[in-house]
Amino acid sequence: MKIKDNIYILGIESSCDETSVSVVKNGRDVLSNVISSQIDIHKLYGGVVPEIASRKHIENIDIIYKESLKQAKLSIEDICAIAVTYGPGLVGSLLVGLSFAKGLSISSKIPFIGINHIEGHIASNYISNRDLEPPFISLIVSGGHTNLVKVESYNSFKIYGKTHDDACGEAYDKIARVLGFEYPGGPKLEKAALNGTQNKFSFPRGEVRGSIYDFTYSGLKSHVINVIHNIKQKNNESIDNQTISDISLEFQNSIIDSLVNRTISLSKELNINKVAICGGVSANTAIKTALKNECDKNNIKFYFPENIYCTDNAAMIASAGYYEFINGKRSKLDLNADANLEFTDK
Ligand code: KG4
Ligand code: ZN
Repeated sequence: MKIKDNIYILGIESSCDETSVSVVKNGRDVLSNVISSQIDIHKLYGGVVPEIASRKHIENIDIIYKESLKQAKLSIEDICAIAVTYGPGLVGSLLVGLSFAKGLSISSKIPFIGINHIEGHIASNYISNRDLEPPFISLIVSGGHTNLVKVESYNSFKIYGKTHDDACGEAYDKIARVLGFEYPGGPKLEKAALNGTQNKFSFPRGEVRGSIYDFTYSGLKSHVINVIHNIKQKNNESIDNQTISDISLEFQNSIIDSLVNRTISLSKELNINKVAICGGVSANTAIKTALKNECDKNNIKFYFPENIYCTDNAAMIASAGYYEFINGKRSKLDLNADANLEFTDK
């Protein structure tokens, strides 16, 4: 490895149904972020089929890697380290990215660093907000995770809230499916809610007894599914578009309350006046608007990633990798993919 003024990290992300490779300079400047989404294949099955996902990653990863270097106008010799997601996610999918990273590391004599996917989502805000520095509160809302975290430094986190059952995006996708939307239904449900009328329905706000910052969506999900089934039963198995919109709106209101209240409370409790949302669900405008309004009322600065960095992408993994790299972290070749990799205080 040559001594370089700038630190270029190659990021690799393949934890679910996006194959992505990116080159990021000094943790914040994205030189390339190539993403191949498999959504069109998986929507035929109503969700991600793990076996198909790993096969598609294998077919795509080398092409995406080459395209990523090409777009960055760099060669592999310019790269200082490879950052790769090693969990959590689908094990077959993770293994494709991790094995590719290891092979590249050996053949190019470049160190590699295993990254927790959730820490990648947190780093997505460094890309979109150049002034954002820890400490801040991070609200991570995706298809697999819902966490409320104090980002103490670039490399240390304290977790205050987690979900006890479904993740926020998972709840969106499940309700969307029952309402008849294609996978992934989150964005379609958000769109339907725009035509909804307030107060046509009243859905519960899930509370976890004894842990004010934890989340629960299973009660809300069961309640809404019951309401939909009852309506369909009375109407020859059909449900009209206005009712779909009204249900979508109240479901989203319940989610918004759960996220906004906890985030503002934690920010006040810890006296940290910076809040950053991230993860696939942070593409949701209604959630961002509600959180921003409450942040403004409480003199809290609100940050969010551009949409392309909300859903899974390798740029966020490269950014997280940069901060691990300059902190001295390197992974060994025996690092394994970990489908259930925990996100813990560190
Ligand atoms: O971060 P991500 O790409 O994958 C995981 O790490 O899980 O998040 C995908 C999730 C899906 O559940 C999708 O429905 C949800 O993000 N999502 C949304 C919106 N856009 C994506 N949920 C609600 N509203 C949206 N606009
Ligand atoms: Zn994700």
